[in-house]
Amino acid sequence: MGDPYGLKRVIEPVGAMPQPAWKLDNSMRCGDDEMLIDVDILNIDAASFTQIKEAVGTDPEAVANRMREIVAMRGKHHNPVTGSGGMLIGTIAQIGPNSSKRNLVVGDRIATLVSLSLTPLAIDEINHIDLSSGQVKITGQAILFDSGICVRMPTDLPDRVTLAVCDVCGAPAQTARIVKEGQTVAVLGAGGKSGMMVLAQARRNLGATGRLIALEYAEKSAETIRALGYADDVLVCDAQNPVQTLEVFEQAVGTQLADVAINCVSVPGTELASIMITRDRGLVYFFSMATSFTTAALGAEGLGKDVDMMIGNGYASGHADLALDLIRAEPVLLAAYVHKCG
Ligand SMILES: NC(=O)c1ccc[n+]([C@@H]2O[C@H](COP(=O)([O-])OP(=O)(O)OC[C@H]3O[C@@H](n4cnc5c(N)ncnc54)[C@H](OP(=O)(O)O)[C@@H]3O)[C@@H](O)[C@H]2O)c1
Repeated sequence: MGDPYGLKRVIEPVGAMPQPAWKLDNSMRCGDDEMLIDVDILNIDAASFTQIKEAVGTDPEAVANRMREIVAMRGKHHNPVTGSGGMLIGTIAQIGPNSSKRNLVVGDRIATLVSLSLTPLAIDEINHIDLSSGQVKITGQAILFDSGICVRMPTDLPDRVTLAVCDVCGAPAQTARIVKEGQTVAVLGAGGKSGMMVLAQARRNLGATGRLIALEYAEKSAETIRALGYADDVLVCDAQNPVQTLEVFEQAVGTQLADVAINCVSVPGTELASIMITRDRGLVYFFSMATSFTTAALGAEGLGKDVDMMIGNGYASGHADLALDLIRAEPVLLAAYVHKCG
């Protein structure tokens, strides 16, 4: 019997799947249908990285210690506060004899497309931490289960750009499905990695129709969004302050609220701002991992807002190809990514 989902790696609680499990076996022996990866770079999920910096400060050594602590405690980089992971780049060191990944060979460089929150990981050294992007160079190893998807690293893009794009590739893929011509679309956290991709994809779907509104926290990031040229309006506000967000939104757009709001913010407490700027029967897509299901559901009920809400499934069929093709086709987006993490 194979073990495509990595059930044998779960230490506790017994019977859990690897993602929700508290602890995984991170011994680096490659199982029959597993793949062993020599890891170079981790891309820590933005909500997780922000939380770690808030908790321990921005001294790289303190961040490194917390990362080691998480992996020692859980056998994976699964932040116990945010529940989120990230993903990695590495080189295939071994492929189990029963692996179904026939298109890959030892020595291939790959990026994983499943979360670090379910990926057995061993860190030998932390070599460098980029405090702004959350990309961390390490010496270490990881295990990919047979069900775990990955992509061979393209040679035409910088590795760090590919890593960042693949981390958030679910967001533009879902945007491509959701946004329709003529709609008013609001993107919260629009100047971040996922936010910029969502803006680019939403503009493609809208064409010259509708209205695309970018909401951003810092004026500096707002300038970057203006330079991209995708958004019709760029508004500066604090999404943790729902009343201020609605005021700023209505001042710019009037009382016609968004048909679709897409939340790409990296901090908690932004559910109500997203809901309040969305019209009744509109859709709020929560890509942010800092989203609380309870706050969103009970908050909408309390406001009497009849909106649909969608959880940001990190996977959509063809998501990595869509996102990588998008960045290849959009030079301004690529330049912004290179500036952010290149
Ligand atoms: N669903 C999934 O599968 C999945 C996968 C990957 C990531 N995520 C989640 O997606 C979210 C965004 O990730 P990312 O990599 O795009 O993050 P990012 O690059 O760090 O961007 C986060 C954005 O949020 C903005 N922001 C922070 N505080 C804000 C506030 N109070 N009000 C308004 N905006 C604020 C930031 O603005 P400033 O730069 O101005 O501070 C930035 O533009 C995170 O929560 C991450 O966990 C989800």
